[in-house]
Amino acid sequence: MFKRLFSGTVRVSSSYDASFQALTSAKGLPGAVGNTPLIRLNRLSDEIGRNVYGKAEWMNPGGSVKDRAALFFIEEAERKGLIKPGGTIVEGTAGNTGIGLAHVARAKGYNVVIYMPNTQAPSKIQTLKLLGCEVYPVPVVAYDNPENFNHKARRHAESLENAYWTNQFDNLDNRLAHIKMTGPEIYQQLNGKVDGFTCSLGTGGTWCGTSRYLKTQNPDTKCYVAEPPGSCVYSYVKTGGKSLERSGSSFTEGIGQGRITNNVAQDIELADDAFLIPDEESIAMLYRLLDEEGIYVGGTSALNVVAAVKAAQTLPENSNVVTILADSAHKYSDRIFSKSWLESKGLYSAIPEHLKKYATLD
Ligand SMILES: Cc1ncc(COP(=O)(O)O)c(C=O)c1O
Repeated sequence: MFKRLFSGTVRVSSSYDASFQALTSAKGLPGAVGNTPLIRLNRLSDEIGRNVYGKAEWMNPGGSVKDRAALFFIEEAERKGLIKPGGTIVEGTAGNTGIGLAHVARAKGYNVVIYMPNTQAPSKIQTLKLLGCEVYPVPVVAYDNPENFNHKARRHAESLENAYWTNQFDNLDNRLAHIKMTGPEIYQQLNGKVDGFTCSLGTGGTWCGTSRYLKTQNPDTKCYVAEPPGSCVYSYVKTGGKSLERSGSSFTEGIGQGRITNNVAQDIELADDAFLIPDEESIAMLYRLLDEEGIYVGGTSALNVVAAVKAAQTLPENSNVVTILADSAHKYSDRIFSKSWLESKGLYSAIPEHLKKYATLD
């Protein structure tokens, strides 16, 4: 029967590569963080004559790029003796760092307490609770207000014995994760030919650590900051550090910083340029990635790809530009595939006509 089915003259080229090295983690779940595939975005790349690659960070055990920082926070704290068995990890997080911390902490026997802005997608809160975290969604107030979610997290940790505030914005173990893991992985995956790198900044750990590593290997690698409306990092880079101006807001979650965090301060001078990406372009790219590449990612990843295309277009033909596919669309799907939600944000009309079929929720 198989013979009959396949006995035509059709030739299919298989994408399966037997030489691909699957990894084994003898160290349990924490050892399974990182080593994600680097995916060439074929349709986009062919269209512009440059290779745009996305690092598939949604394939981390907790589903996002933040698993890397979470691993380093916990293991560096263990190494420095800042947390002992049975202790509590406390963090202020929009969600993904908390999810990463929850997975690594469960695997190592720690408790997790999370403070987060109450504007985040409800499914993120639910996921954290399902993972055993104590979660406190709190009203959004500026960082200099003592009621900001980060300060609440710090005070909570201070009030407990054997607790550690991971402090993702200013703890440099965040950036270290990307110097030690993300940067080297990308460099190896392209045999050192990395002409450009770009991604958006939340804490700045991913951009700074990866850019630092890549520029150390090859100072000619161009590193571009990619930002949503509402971020101050864009104007900071564009004015050589003179302005922190920000305006507007974005549907993306986890990026769009309002201050220069300690992680950002370390490496932001490495930025060759910055792109400010309007939400309309990010949402259109999100649908396009799904339709053309089969890639189902959240808003920050789509924004990153828009920036990667812009960056690639400033570089010679056949250049390799890498960006980060930070997480999947699952957590946000009830919003970004809902026609009424998109309309309420003024984004429905930004989706090309032939892609509107993906907005299947009311
Ligand atoms: C989906 C998503 N993308 C991007 C980022 C930004 O990464 P970083 O904090 O390393 O700058 C975050 C941070 O939480 C995130 O959750």
